[in-house]
Amino acid sequence: FRIDWDLMVAEKNGFDSFMLKEIHDQPRAYEDTMRGRIEARSTIVLPGIELSEVQIRGLKQIHMVACGTAYHAALVGKTVIERLTRIPVEVDLASEYRYRMPVIRKNTLVIAVSQSGETADTLAAMREAKQWGARVMAITNVIGSSVAREADDCLFTLAGPEIAVASTKAYSSQLIAFYLLGIFMAQSLETLDQATQIELITMLERLPAQVEDMLKGNMEAVRQIAEQIAGHNHLFFIGRGLDYSLAMEASLKLKEISYLHSEAYAAGELKHGSLALVEDGTPVIALATQELLLEKTVSNIKEVKARGAYVIAFALEGNTELEKTADQVIYVPRTFSLFTPALAVVPLQLLAYYTASIRGNDVDKPRNLAKSVTVE
Ligand code: G6P
Repeated sequence: FRIDWDLMVAEKNGFDSFMLKEIHDQPRAYEDTMRGRIEARSTIVLPGIELSEVQIRGLKQIHMVACGTAYHAALVGKTVIERLTRIPVEVDLASEYRYRMPVIRKNTLVIAVSQSGETADTLAAMREAKQWGARVMAITNVIGSSVAREADDCLFTLAGPEIAVASTKAYSSQLIAFYLLGIFMAQSLETLDQATQIELITMLERLPAQVEDMLKGNMEAVRQIAEQIAGHNHLFFIGRGLDYSLAMEASLKLKEISYLHSEAYAAGELKHGSLALVEDGTPVIALATQELLLEKTVSNIKEVKARGAYVIAFALEGNTELEKTADQVIYVPRTFSLFTPALAVVPLQLLAYYTASIRGNDVDKPRNLAKSVTVE
């Protein structure tokens, strides 16, 4: 008698890869990351953060340090924290920060973002910051990790273990952590009125169900786009504001597992050089989920269309006018503008997943890459 039971298959919950399972895990990861941190649907409480109200009010600047996908989450984090608190934020790659002699003053908070909490450069960057007298906060997924142990304050993402090398739910949970932190700091700074704060929290709490709906919805359209791009050699992602930060992550995800060359560009910057690479049929994935920048992004879409690009746009539900300019449009549900990346990232993760699968790659274990980089 032999039980033909493959533990790895069981852990994948019926999905063909850890990556796909982890993409589908996101509604739960969002809920867990928010759980116990929202009181009476109106106040954020973060027990792991000991920074007092007075200390928050005294902050002059925030530096964020991270590597890879966590760096891309920090780029979104910068916009979130600056908008909600008006405290200036700088984001650095940890491998640069540690050697660039950053200007750290007394009231500088350094936030290290790391899924594993063990990345060598991130750890070294936070140690450097501590040496210069900064207070260090960790946003990490691993309780008891080196980054968590060495930080003064911890904000854990509760994404659960992430097995696939390409990060999905850890990234999106880092975004949730930044939303919580932004509102939490705004409470001390009184930068949000009560009604707006309640509205934001209500929209935040709606995100898990919105992701669930997206995943249940028809992702066939995304798979078809993957079919179209899988045979190309290179492509572009463009976007403005938060869409640019998200474009960087979407481009990295696609590169990591599909081995296609792709570049993320700030939509307004393309004409200063890279537009020369756009020719007939070059796929350009245009992220256009930031309503206030929509008109500007549309004019960039027209620029690339005029050079023959094949444009796939990601837009907010209802913005159907994009169908006039782009060749294809994928719709993302509406939420508060700062929260949109936490929804828009889902079809972009799936796009990377489908493209890699179509190309016959091992989506969970891409060549040359490691889940956690503990050497410099
Ligand atoms: C590696 C992983 C990436 C990750 C980066 C930073 O390169 O392959 O997915 O974003 O390390 O890892 P961390 O654990 O610090 O977030």
